[in-house]
Amino acid sequence: MQLGNQTQAYDFKTRDIKVLKKLMPYLLKMRVRVALATLFLIFAKLANVAVPVVLKEIVDSLDQTNVLLILPLGMLFAYGALRLASSLFNELRDAIFAKVRYHAMHLIALGVFKHLHTLDLSFHLNRRIGGITRDIDRGTQSVSTLLSIFVFNILPSFFEICLVIGILWVNYDVFFASISLVTVVLYIGLTLAITTWRMKYRYQMNDMQSEANTNAVDSLINYETVKYFNQEDFEVNRYDDTMSRWEDVATKSFTSMTALNFIQGAVIAVGVTIILVLASQGVVDQNLSLGDLIMIQALLLQLFMPLGSLGIIYRQIKHNFIDMNNMFDLLERTSKVQDIDHASNLKISKGKVEFNQVAFAYQGKDEVLKDISFVIEPGQKVAIVGSSGAGKSTLAKLLFRFYDVSKGEILIDGQNIKLLDQRSVQTAIGVVPQDTVMFNESIYYNIAYGKKNTTKEEVERAAKLSFIDGFIDQLPQGYDTLVGERGLKLSGGEKQRLAIARVLLKNPPILIFDEATSALDSHSEKMVQKALKGLASKHTTLVIAHRLSTIVDADKIIVLSDGLIKESGTHDELLKANGQYASLWKMQSKDSKEKQQ
Ligand SMILES: Nc1ncnc2c1ncn2[C@@H]1O[C@H](COP(=O)(O)OP(=O)(O)OP(=O)(O)O)[C@@H](O)[C@H]1O
Ligand SMILES: [Mg+2]
Repeated sequence: MQLGNQTQAYDFKTRDIKVLKKLMPYLLKMRVRVALATLFLIFAKLANVAVPVVLKEIVDSLDQTNVLLILPLGMLFAYGALRLASSLFNELRDAIFAKVRYHAMHLIALGVFKHLHTLDLSFHLNRRIGGITRDIDRGTQSVSTLLSIFVFNILPSFFEICLVIGILWVNYDVFFASISLVTVVLYIGLTLAITTWRMKYRYQMNDMQSEANTNAVDSLINYETVKYFNQEDFEVNRYDDTMSRWEDVATKSFTSMTALNFIQGAVIAVGVTIILVLASQGVVDQNLSLGDLIMIQALLLQLFMPLGSLGIIYRQIKHNFIDMNNMFDLLERTSKVQDIDHASNLKISKGKVEFNQVAFAYQGKDEVLKDISFVIEPGQKVAIVGSSGAGKSTLAKLLFRFYDVSKGEILIDGQNIKLLDQRSVQTAIGVVPQDTVMFNESIYYNIAYGKKNTTKEEVERAAKLSFIDGFIDQLPQGYDTLVGERGLKLSGGEKQRLAIARVLLKNPPILIFDEATSALDSHSEKMVQKALKGLASKHTTLVIAHRLSTIVDADKIIVLSDGLIKESGTHDELLKANGQYASLWKMQSKDSKEKQQ
């Protein structure tokens, strides 16, 4: 299941370094901007740290006994200017970095999307769409968050800690510097340790959220089925069950966070108090001025301010690494149907199709096809019949190279499709699949999908050829009518005719019709069959059909059973042979006669 990888022990170091490495190319693409943003960051921090130093000078010049006090105007203005500069450079850094961040998000989302289309069909059948889209969403968001955390928090905090400790060391007692350092190190150490311990709750939260999400999406997609079987309560209970488990771990996650926050606060309180005691003692002993005390206090506050959010940030980093890792895992998956290096394109001349001792098994299952050999001569129409589950659709998918055969070979015009470029094979084949799914767009969009840069005339002609034009014309919005998610607002027969129109538009040399007219009534089926017949005469065609009356005219009929070809020949030959096909034919013609009576 897709959530499995989240619950595995998470090896922070090696995996995250790997993830960081993957992020680098996106940053290097915009290195000028990254460098500029870093420069502004340094300026901002320098200005920031200079503020308490100026404050000290102001306090000291005001804190003089026996001397006429004058306003240290220059210093006061410098104070204001530094504050302004710090804010200005911060904003400049953000503005310049914005493009880096969003560009990286754009590229990564695009990369993953593109990659998902290259993965094989079995990947898509095994994964739930809800889970994938969540992984992409969270993954790209985490790229943005991680980048900004590094540029806006980690780097500046680190730089500021070094600066402050340096100033304390150079100007004052080594104690100040070392106590600050110890506090910082203790703080960071404890934060990392406790955060690592409580990460397991976050994994579980992620798992449960994903689970609830996929369940919800699945049950909504299956809305009709849920209603048909009165399973609303079951769906609600299942969701409720996951959500209550989510609630438990979310609560644990939150309470453990409050404990962590308290420990962090305690470390800071102790560190700051010790330093303030030492500084006040210095003032009492007259080693330090009042200005020094104020400067040390201001520096420390400034130092611990970013540290205060370091806890949250570390947690964010870890969460984001998990999210990003899940996304990059997707990127690392490769398709099982791989092209060989320098695979050549299919050179199609006449469109002869040849199956040569083909065997195939779905992963982890017994062989569906065991030893299939047949030839479709150019322009011929070959029909496959057989009981449900016999492997007819599988055979069609093998020809389209959705899967690679496990034994034997499939040749198109003498070329083994396993050794060819997948896309070139798939371009040459048009498929009207058994279950047609439509895009949630207009009818026009769905037909025009068959061909790039198609014209309105071509779309209308294809609609006419597949006998769907009458239906479209009587719709108030005609070709602009939206078909609903997966085409649910259309009847099965309408969808099939749209799918046929789409393939007519593609007009490839080889055609596969997998029960393409099964949802049509006899009258429309006859009309569509006529259209298909006209088309088939110019193309090499593989037809899969349950209703034998639609394939009587086939050049060859193949009867598939137990993964083998049991009979083959023309309609008349098979009737003469008086085998499986003949008995099937008798049964169906009896049925239809009974219906007619
Ligand atoms: N993606 C898949 N993964 C695993 N098994 C599959 C997959 N697709 C189909 N099968 C199995 O392979 C067998 C053949 O399926 P196929 O769809 O080829 O049958 P079919 O002859 O087209 O049946 P029908 O007439 O009902 O459409 C079935 O037992 C089916 O359960
Ligand atoms: Mg099928």
